[in-house]
Amino acid sequence: MMQKLQGAAALNVAFVGVSNGLFDVLSGLRSATAAELAAKAGRDLGYVTRWCDAAYAFEYLEREQDRFHLTATGEAFRPDAPDTLMPMAVQAVLGAHMAERAAGLMRTGERPGEKVLAERETILPWFGPMLEHSFATMFAQQIVPAIPAFARVDERGGLAVDLGCGNGWYLRALAKRCGHLRGIGLDGFEENIRQATELAAQAGLQDHLEFRAGDLHHFTVDGPVDLIAMNRALHHVWDEKENVFRILAEHLAPGGSAVIWEPRWPDDPAALRHPRGRGMAFQNLSEHVQGNHFLRPDEIAAELEKAGLRSEVHLFGEGYEAVVVGTKPE
Ligand SMILES: C[S@@+](CC[C@H](N)C(=O)[O-])C[C@H]1O[C@@H](n2cnc3c(N)ncnc32)[C@H](O)[C@@H]1O
Repeated sequence: MMQKLQGAAALNVAFVGVSNGLFDVLSGLRSATAAELAAKAGRDLGYVTRWCDAAYAFEYLEREQDRFHLTATGEAFRPDAPDTLMPMAVQAVLGAHMAERAAGLMRTGERPGEKVLAERETILPWFGPMLEHSFATMFAQQIVPAIPAFARVDERGGLAVDLGCGNGWYLRALAKRCGHLRGIGLDGFEENIRQATELAAQAGLQDHLEFRAGDLHHFTVDGPVDLIAMNRALHHVWDEKENVFRILAEHLAPGGSAVIWEPRWPDDPAALRHPRGRGMAFQNLSEHVQGNHFLRPDEIAAELEKAGLRSEVHLFGEGYEAVVVGTKPE
């Protein structure tokens, strides 16, 4: 337990650095005093001084007298580092926030909904990047090649819609692969749409991708859609699934597919003891605060079939990630 406590503290210290850009700034400076780091990052010297001591203690920094530089682990927390460790720091602090909310709310049973995610202004901007860096590689390397719906949308050069799009990483990844694709992303959080729009422009995809703020229950677009993606979004709207599956079925073109990616809640509770299962079980507790719970792939497949779509289930990530595809008959 002492090791676990130290692990939590290590990630908390990393989060303070990530959220204030300290890993990036120190990487750029190569070596700096706390005062130089604070000045370049535009942060308070007192806090930066204490952070440098803590980051040194957890071996993110080396020190030579009053100068600091990043260790290899410190470099790996830079949000743009290959295989960045940033998502772990964000998950740890978001998890602590959700645990604190669950602890209080268990007394009354109140479930305040999505807004709990936005209660911490330092965490909200990292929500999208955390998800992108956790899942974009699995998407590109495993999911896209395994699911024929992606090749079909590429051939058609058609319209893809992402409901609950977060920072828009999924449509960016698809648009880079499929040169003629047009995409529309919709999300309930303005901050996500701001990031998605900015990141699409940075990638030169502004003519292909459009991002809108709004409630997916009211989504509508003129003309048929070739692919509708929902990534880790369906469990947020499961309470009103009839409306969601109606929207999918009505908007898909014949031969078009809904591609629904969700964590796979296991049939056997023993699977929750696996490291991936543990993370999922904890997240399911924090999902409860938001009014949600994780789903089994067969529940999703059954709803797709009910809506008139032909369903297939694909498993990834040691069976802990499910992509359920529903295709509208031609
Ligand atoms: C876990 S995040 C996943 C984000 C993104 N799909 C990804 O994979 O990174 C779920 C997203 O669904 C969005 N969402 C939940 N309910 C929604 C609703 N009713 N309308 C629009 N967006 C919604 C949330 O704002 C959040 O960004």
